[in-house]
Amino acid sequence: MSTDPRSGESAARPARPGTGAATGTQISGLRKSDLHACLSDPMLDVMNFLNEITDRYPRAISFAPGRPHEGAFEVEDIFRHLRSYLDYLSQQGSSPARIRTMLFQYGPTAGHIRELVADSLRADEGIDVAPESIVVTVGCQEAMLLALRALFAGPRDVLLVSCPCYVGIVGAARLLGIPVRAVEERPDGIACDDLDQALQAELRQGNRPRALYVVPDYNNPSGNTMTPAVRQEVLELAERYDIAILEDSPYRLVSPGRQSPTLKAIDTGRRVVHLGSFAKSTFPGLRLGYVIADQIVTDGSGSACLLADELAKIKSMVTVNSPSVSQAIVAGILLGSGGRLSEANSRTAARYGEALQLALRQLDRHFPAARREAAGVTWNRPAGGFFLTVRVPFPADDAALARSAEQHNVIWTPMRYFFPDGRGGHNAIRLSVSALEFTEIEDGIARFAHFVDSEIGAR
Ligand SMILES: Cc1ncc(COP(=O)(O)O)c(C=O)c1O
Repeated sequence: MSTDPRSGESAARPARPGTGAATGTQISGLRKSDLHACLSDPMLDVMNFLNEITDRYPRAISFAPGRPHEGAFEVEDIFRHLRSYLDYLSQQGSSPARIRTMLFQYGPTAGHIRELVADSLRADEGIDVAPESIVVTVGCQEAMLLALRALFAGPRDVLLVSCPCYVGIVGAARLLGIPVRAVEERPDGIACDDLDQALQAELRQGNRPRALYVVPDYNNPSGNTMTPAVRQEVLELAERYDIAILEDSPYRLVSPGRQSPTLKAIDTGRRVVHLGSFAKSTFPGLRLGYVIADQIVTDGSGSACLLADELAKIKSMVTVNSPSVSQAIVAGILLGSGGRLSEANSRTAARYGEALQLALRQLDRHFPAARREAAGVTWNRPAGGFFLTVRVPFPADDAALARSAEQHNVIWTPMRYFFPDGRGGHNAIRLSVSALEFTEIEDGIARFAHFVDSEIGAR
């Protein structure tokens, strides 16, 4: 029986009939130690944990999952968007038989909505790339996997990640056996001195730093955003050390106000592989994302292709192609919003911004400046995204989370889960406000304040 590394609870599930597990006998001699080492890595449990913990404490208000708010989801919209794309295809001259084939059959590996995606990237983000440099993927998660598989060629190729770090990239790297090095994130992004030192340390050890993964806007988990100056410096360092940048930024289009340009938009040296997600800007049930890989790949014979072509080759052996129905729905959403996802999201972005501001006001209210200082409780103030970081003067660990859930009916995520080497985040908490109603945010922060007070012995 294994123990869940995060909660200390038994992770064992009820045995299925016929497996022999109920009587304590082994099933066909399968031992964890015989399976791939990544399956013993606690990082791989974090994603499921974030999805499941809310179910475990149904009475608690949960600041744990980074899910979209469901208020704007309408089942009928799915049919409307699908219809609008099919009508568009028909107006463009596609025959009913061709449309049927597009929906029902296997499709092109790189996707059939690449032109619409390229147009929307130009309109929303000022990213000007040819449709051929885009691969439509099964979520951003697949984009990460493809990019890592293609770029990391040998055992000495190392991935640097800004930390705390989204678990999806670390998990994908673990699956592929890619070594990951953490570079600590600062309030304004990554400190280029730290990055420089980390790169030099890898080179000294005979490794090849291959890529840096960053979430420059409203990072998950911290909520921090990279300043324009840091973006420029990161690109310069990438050029100097000849590394790629994996840019993942799913919260831009669901955040209020104007955003700084993406790294991809200001990347003149084609250093950036941009990993895209439609999970927040449309809805996660579609499981759709994309990768922009406009780098030119040459071989010894003088022929050349785009990195996107190579990624599509890998994709053909992973998911074959992304679901056509999901692509058609995204296309319908794009067509219905003048080709701009920013347009389609203007109301939700405003709502997420209000939710964050409400959480920040409630924190201010429950921890007035003098008390906050005396107690050593601090937090950042993101203007967008789904997350914020609270620092506390006690270990924010699984035991504290269990007390919070059981005694105060409030759930949050220990920041330590987002440090791949387990070194960091010990006194920090991620609060995610995206999925909650405003009244839940008010109640939840009040409960959270009680929990913090009880931990520091103030109540
Ligand atoms: C930084 C980051 N990247 C990617 C994703 C989502 O990826 P996908 O499109 O696979 O749902 C998330 C969602 O939580 C995220 O926070």
